[in-house]
Amino acid sequence: MDVIFSGIQPSGDLTLGNYLGALKNFIPFQDKAECFYCIVNQHAITVPQDPKLLHERTRNLAALYIAAGLDPKKATIFVQSEVPEHALLGWMMICSAYVGEMERMTQYKSKAQKQEKKNGFIPLGLLTYPPLMAADILLYQATFVPVGDDQRQHMEITRDLAERFNRKYGEVFTLPEMWAPEGGARVMSLQEPTKKMSKSDDNEWATIHMLDEPDVITKKIKRAVTDSIGHVHYDKENQPGVSNLMSIHSAFSGKNFEEIEKMYEGQGYGVFKKDLIDLIVDQMSPILSRYKELMGSPELDSILDEGAAKAHARASITYNKAIHAMGLYRK
Ligand code: TYM
Repeated sequence: MDVIFSGIQPSGDLTLGNYLGALKNFIPFQDKAECFYCIVNQHAITVPQDPKLLHERTRNLAALYIAAGLDPKKATIFVQSEVPEHALLGWMMICSAYVGEMERMTQYKSKAQKQEKKNGFIPLGLLTYPPLMAADILLYQATFVPVGDDQRQHMEITRDLAERFNRKYGEVFTLPEMWAPEGGARVMSLQEPTKKMSKSDDNEWATIHMLDEPDVITKKIKRAVTDSIGHVHYDKENQPGVSNLMSIHSAFSGKNFEEIEKMYEGQGYGVFKKDLIDLIVDQMSPILSRYKELMGSPELDSILDEGAAKAHARASITYNKAIHAMGLYRK
């Protein structure tokens, strides 16, 4: 049976990008595979976090996982820092990695630059982020990892580290495959559509959050940048704004670009945007109301306690194999 692992950082309010690129795609796997879905709070601290906010966001993200459709009876939902094997195997992966390959990671380069500008230093954790992510995945011998397109390089390095370890110390790890959705793998900013939609964007109009109320979604889509061409047409070069909105439409409606172009032929952007708002609101409102219910219930803690115990039971099997392979044991 396939084993699925994925994680999201509790580092800000989740965006439509996180939903379409990752969370939405977690759901169908729970009926056909063994699933581990993690709240990766140890990745979140690779940049400075406010402790109280990090604590709150960790719980909020767990509630959002469930509100979006994850069923704790089918999938294991847990917090990364509550399963110590992540940090332990993470260290072993760091020791198997090279400084040069880490410095070449594009996400490292852009985040390091941002941190240096903002705080005057580059946290070392940013450089060692990928080996910790590799540890997350390899601990569960995952076969598939549903993630957005921006994680491609991290997935490649995960496979490289696993292969390197297996070659040197014997076959311990399964090589995981990335699973990216056809539509929604890269949702772009609504204001600068050549840039990816991100939790940490300072421009509130650029990002739709999963928990935005319908009136906020409406305003943001209405304000989304388009162009003066006036045709609903997929052309990332010349119509990046409209193309991004079409990708979002497609991810929600299941229609391909050709079908969407036909639907709005000769109609300009008004009708298209109105339908898009309806599509987003229809799918996101039930998530918002379930989320509000869950936040007020004591259920969440028992789900996460159970999840951590199940994840630990599984992770410790691989961890034991890995320390024996590496000679990191006494008896
Ligand atoms: P994070 O929290 O930055 O993003 C979580 C997921 O959301 C996807 N995503 C997007 N997809 C489409 N369009 C966007 N604009 C967009 N923005 C974000 C990301 O691709 C990701 O799937 N490194 C991971 C966290 C992680 C992880 C793991 C993932 C740590 N360990 C192990 C999988 C397996 C990340 O950056 O998360």
